[in-house]
Amino acid sequence: MGKYVIFGGNGFIGSHLAEALLQRGHEVVIFDHFRHGTRNIASIVSDVTLKKGDFNNEHDVNDALKGVDAVFHFISTTNPATSFNDPIFDTKTNLVGTIKLLQIAAQRDIERIIFPSSGGTIYGDTLGSPISETTAPKPSNPYAISKYAVERYLHFFHEHHHLDFLIVRYSNPYGERQNPNARQGVIPIFLNQIKQGKRPVIFGDGSAVRDYIYIRDAIDATLQILESNTEEKVYNVGSGQGTSLNELISIMSQVTGENISPVYVYDEKKYVSKIVLDISKLKKEIGWQPTTELTSGISRTWKWINTIID
Ligand SMILES: NC(=O)c1ccc[n+]([C@@H]2O[C@H](COP(=O)([O-])OP(=O)(O)OC[C@H]3O[C@@H](n4cnc5c(N)ncnc54)[C@H](O)[C@@H]3O)[C@@H](O)[C@H]2O)c1
Repeated sequence: MGKYVIFGGNGFIGSHLAEALLQRGHEVVIFDHFRHGTRNIASIVSDVTLKKGDFNNEHDVNDALKGVDAVFHFISTTNPATSFNDPIFDTKTNLVGTIKLLQIAAQRDIERIIFPSSGGTIYGDTLGSPISETTAPKPSNPYAISKYAVERYLHFFHEHHHLDFLIVRYSNPYGERQNPNARQGVIPIFLNQIKQGKRPVIFGDGSAVRDYIYIRDAIDATLQILESNTEEKVYNVGSGQGTSLNELISIMSQVTGENISPVYVYDEKKYVSKIVLDISKLKKEIGWQPTTELTSGISRTWKWINTIID
């Protein structure tokens, strides 16, 4: 059993990861600034060690790495939408912050860093068939550019400082505890609008296609890759299926029993129109494939949305 620190362990993905690591018998340290309390980790808070700190404070980071075997770096200070108009903030906080983390981790002889890259954005616009890990990334927004730069720094630190790593390029994870008031994650955002009796707002004509993966599947894939002891460093983690926004609305109508009529808003074409990940490497090498159908995952997310007090 290992001792792992999760940077951003109080977030959407980090909190599910913490639960899954505990279930597997590992010791878990959660590093986060906990600005919004500990609601996401309420069910496990007494089973983990909490380290309150700021990712951009070297002292806090150094302290969080004491005595741990591996680091899950699941903090991002931006998302594709918020990074757009402030690339300097994105670079200073995400990129520089991560390079500092890697330097400290290398000094402390940490075994491995696990990094969630963005399969949904680093490849750029891919109108063709599902896209594999061997396709050259063409990141086209600051968030994605930083993600790809971090990927390259992980290779650099491995080669020159013997810090091992794993990159999981997630498509579009969704599910319980994904913030419905954020600017990322259309599934909880739409479901919350529906719950509030509002019409979901779609940017564009609803034809944009994404690869949605239920959060517990994404976490299961991540841990199975780690447990396989593969020497491979980069895996796409997605469902391998494309779904348009209009199709999502139709599934949501079915799940919620509501007759949903979205509002279509002019789209500045800031984002890619289609991205579906090729997950054959994950299937062949790890023997993993998703088990949660989109309708079932949306149904679980809907149940959760209805437990939230606004
Ligand atoms: N959600 C997605 O669709 C998606 C897709 C691909 C990759 N990722 C990546 O996965 C990681 C986790 O994403 P998420 O959706 O769980 O995000 P999230 O916003 O839910 O969680 C991030 C956590 O980081 C913490 N945090 C942010 N800035 C901090 C700071 N300066 N110091 C300390 N803590 C800080 C927040 O409090 C939060 O708990 C991110 O790196 C993100 O880029 C997310």
